[in-house]
Amino acid sequence: MKIYANLKCNHTRKSFENYAKFLDENLMLDDKEIVVFPPSSAFCYGKYKFRQGAQNFYPCENGNFTGEIGLSMLNEFNIKDALTGHSERRNLGESDEFLKVKFEFLKEQNFNIIFCIGENLDIKNSNKTKEFLASQLNDIDLEYENLVIAYEPVWAIGTGVSANLDDIAEILEFLRTLTNAPLLYGGSVNLENISEISNIKECGGVLVGSASFEAKSFINLIKEVR
Ligand code: PGA
Repeated sequence: MKIYANLKCNHTRKSFENYAKFLDENLMLDDKEIVVFPPSSAFCYGKYKFRQGAQNFYPCENGNFTGEIGLSMLNEFNIKDALTGHSERRNLGESDEFLKVKFEFLKEQNFNIIFCIGENLDIKNSNKTKEFLASQLNDIDLEYENLVIAYEPVWAIGTGVSANLDDIAEILEFLRTLTNAPLLYGGSVNLENISEISNIKECGGVLVGSASFEAKSFINLIKEVR
């Protein structure tokens, strides 16, 4: 099972060093597949029992792209996992076309791509969730061997209200008809719901935001499904 932590815009390098140390000390060797996505300014050197991943990147090796980070900066930290299509990036203007370019770039580099999709409340309320999710997957290679898809309803992200179990199960089953990639759920995963969510038939793991911001809280989630 995959348990991924998206730390978003939280943690300095100093505080993430402490986070990484605490996590490493408390993980067991047979723990699930753990990937932590810190802010890129906080990437740490060092060998841990978890992998570090990138929340964002620009599809270039390096170059004249003010404010961006490229492949050479990820390579410095041996990073091989990247979130793509997170709704918080889409909200900042990342279009399906641009996400396709990012996807193709990562694919060429053999990265693990965690491609995030999810409907907003309007789409959910008008019963168009499935067709919308299918459209978000239209431009990417669903056969890519290192693809993971994270289903994250936009209205469940950071709200404390996760989707209900039946709805998650139905959506993951629908996604399974489109791809064999591992399927994650994300959106207000916490200590109370992680076991039930991870027991859903097609659920291959979770992508956690808020409940992972503190190392102790993230470890408690991992322990809950050990
Ligand atoms: P959340 O965030 O757990 O705080 O809802 C999930 C995410 O954005 O990946």
